[in-house]
Amino acid sequence: MLGCRRIRPQHTDESISRVEHKRILLIIGGGIAAYKCLELIRRLRERGVGVRVVMTTAAQQFITPLSVSALTNERVFTELFDLDDESEIGHVRLSRDADVILVAPATADLIAKMANGLANDLASSVLLASDKPPLIAPAMNPRMWLKPATQRNVRQLYADGARFVGPETGEMAERDEAGPGRLAEVPALIEAIEEMTASDRSARTHSSTGPLHNRHVVVTSGPTHEPIDPVRYIANRSSGKQGHAIAAAALAAGARVTLICGPVNLPDPAGVETIKVETAAEMLFAAERALPADIAVFCAAVADWRVAQQGTQKIKKQKGEPAPALELVPNPDILRTIAKQKKGRPELVIGFAAETEKVIEHASAKLKRKGCDWIVANDVSAETGIMGGNRNSVHLIREDGHESWPELSKDEVAVALVKEMAREFAVAEEKTQINKTMRAKTHKI
Ligand SMILES: Cc1cc2nc3c(=O)[nH]c(=O)nc-3n(C[C@H](O)[C@H](O)[C@H](O)COP(=O)(O)O)c2cc1C
Repeated sequence: MLGCRRIRPQHTDESISRVEHKRILLIIGGGIAAYKCLELIRRLRERGVGVRVVMTTAAQQFITPLSVSALTNERVFTELFDLDDESEIGHVRLSRDADVILVAPATADLIAKMANGLANDLASSVLLASDKPPLIAPAMNPRMWLKPATQRNVRQLYADGARFVGPETGEMAERDEAGPGRLAEVPALIEAIEEMTASDRSARTHSSTGPLHNRHVVVTSGPTHEPIDPVRYIANRSSGKQGHAIAAAALAAGARVTLICGPVNLPDPAGVETIKVETAAEMLFAAERALPADIAVFCAAVADWRVAQQGTQKIKKQKGEPAPALELVPNPDILRTIAKQKKGRPELVIGFAAETEKVIEHASAKLKRKGCDWIVANDVSAETGIMGGNRNSVHLIREDGHESWPELSKDEVAVALVKEMAREFAVAEEKTQINKTMRAKTHKI
């Protein structure tokens, strides 16, 4: 299944002010979850957000433009060929006036139209005429969502720069149906809107000085969750503290930072574009989407295996039956895939190796196997308390040797690692400069 930026509800007063005075264009599609938009509009209005709404013809079968306009305090736009609209506002201006365009619920039909550039009604024309990537909140039956056609369209939209929130996995409105396809809950939708506005801000606010100024750093962080069925998953103990600290340290060094994180209980580092994923496949997809980058740091504890056949229904315990056997298949190797890329490989690719024995030996072998430039290795045996803890004791392994650092806090490890990255780039720049001078001198002679 294709991945989406997963957003967990997490409200703070600061988040409320992050969206105040923003203007949202909400495009409501014809799905059963359209009713949730009424609650969404109320919550956005409470936060001082201006909400303008376009409804598809099908959406009007589920909720009425009258209730929507009562909540937004504005007229609702439904028709493409409406002379008043075109002379007063028009579909092009509708799309340009908004800070964020949210499509919710994004039906399979709307997703297909967006992916293929159709514009045969007001909603699709506005989307095609817009000058910004939309935020898409899909909602549909799990089988519709999992269909190769829908997944292909989602992949296309990702590649075109769209952002996704949800769908969530769980029970559907239809009886006895469960799986991925539920519209993200209202707090998650609001958080995704905040994230969109924050990442705009981040693009504008990362420092214009610092040793990594003008560099793009991609960091992965946290664990991955590999679903068994709609309610169970395989996970690991990674907290994401080290990866998040590296993202924050790179930002402080002037870099533009994209953080791709699995499910963690940590706040998003301010000023960093944070993309939330759940599975290894989603993490790889997000990492490839985040390129080009100068530096990629793969700190996430990615599950090596996933369940071969993910159940769309909860696996039931049957009396007298043996426990079900889980067949596992290997997950994509994110570090190796990016490190071995022929085109667009980041200049510096750093992997992490969590080992429980022969740390340096195993990590050095990993460096060669994966084709990365450095490995940060640590001993994660239970007695070290590193997994989930605040301190770390690491070895930095390069092709020509390794150095062992003293035990440090994870923040200190992050700062030291970022210093090493900056030094690497400074040395490379110096070499380029010397070569240029030499060439110029040779030319004169
Ligand atoms: C009762 C009912 C519920 C529906 N729920 C959904 C849904 O949740 N997601 C979806 O993609 N389509 C759903 N559909 C199908 C869409 O309404 C249909 O594809 C429609 O053409 C979508 O139009 P739109 O994309 O212009 O809004 C539903 C249809 C019916 C009759």
